[in-house]
Amino acid sequence: MSTHAAGQVWDPRAYASNGRFVSELGAPLLDWLAPRAGERVLDLGCGDGDLAGRIAAAGCAVVGADASPEFVAAARARGLDARLVDGHALPFHGEFDAVFSNAALHWMKRDPDAVLAGVARALRPGGRFVAEMGAAGNVASIRAAVYDALTRRGLDAVGADRWYFPTAAEYRSRLEGAGFAVARIESFPRPTPLPGDVSGWLRTFAQAFLEVVPESDRQAVLDEVQEALRPRLGSAGLWTADYVRLRFIAIKKDSM
Ligand code: BEZ
Repeated sequence: MSTHAAGQVWDPRAYASNGRFVSELGAPLLDWLAPRAGERVLDLGCGDGDLAGRIAAAGCAVVGADASPEFVAAARARGLDARLVDGHALPFHGEFDAVFSNAALHWMKRDPDAVLAGVARALRPGGRFVAEMGAAGNVASIRAAVYDALTRRGLDAVGADRWYFPTAAEYRSRLEGAGFAVARIESFPRPTPLPGDVSGWLRTFAQAFLEVVPESDRQAVLDEVQEALRPRLGSAGLWTADYVRLRFIAIKKDSM
């Protein structure tokens, strides 16, 4: 397995136990998508294909796109048409009725406008982009505790940070700049119960931060972050992450 642009290696089997909640909690976004039989839908950042499979089950022709070869293989194993694609360089042209994306856009930090230009290119005029991602303030206390632990060691936390969590106002402006009319956009806190402790969450989702820590010190960092967060996020031994979501529906304008 190799480390990808977002500084992450996804292990589909570990993800199935530590990260399944991501697609489970993304299910309400399917109501926003309201897929109709016969539509052609791109799932951008399809992961192991759980939600793409549900869209296909609604009678749509689904293409999954992901930058992780491991996830693409897992999605193909479900029988999906999954492609290994960098979200910053989507290779599709006017062929989709809808682009769907759950919990993936926040990993595409390098150039969000290039991502949106690719989504706009992929849609037919009038096509819709329906997505959810981390919003400004997402996992703020976890991020702060990781920054503290790295900074105490003289490590560059900012340089290791691969997460992009915009405000609704910022993202609306990017969507409009890419030629979308924003039909609906909202940001809301969604405290998220974790299947294990925060140290397990960090191992699954914060690999880029851990990569800059010498291996011999990683467990100490995990322990330190976990203890710092316990009073706020780990009461009574049950861990809850301070997620904040950004959800939107944007329509590609006809004139593009
Ligand atoms: C999220 O879904 O908001 C998220 C997950 C992992 C790392 C950062 C954000």
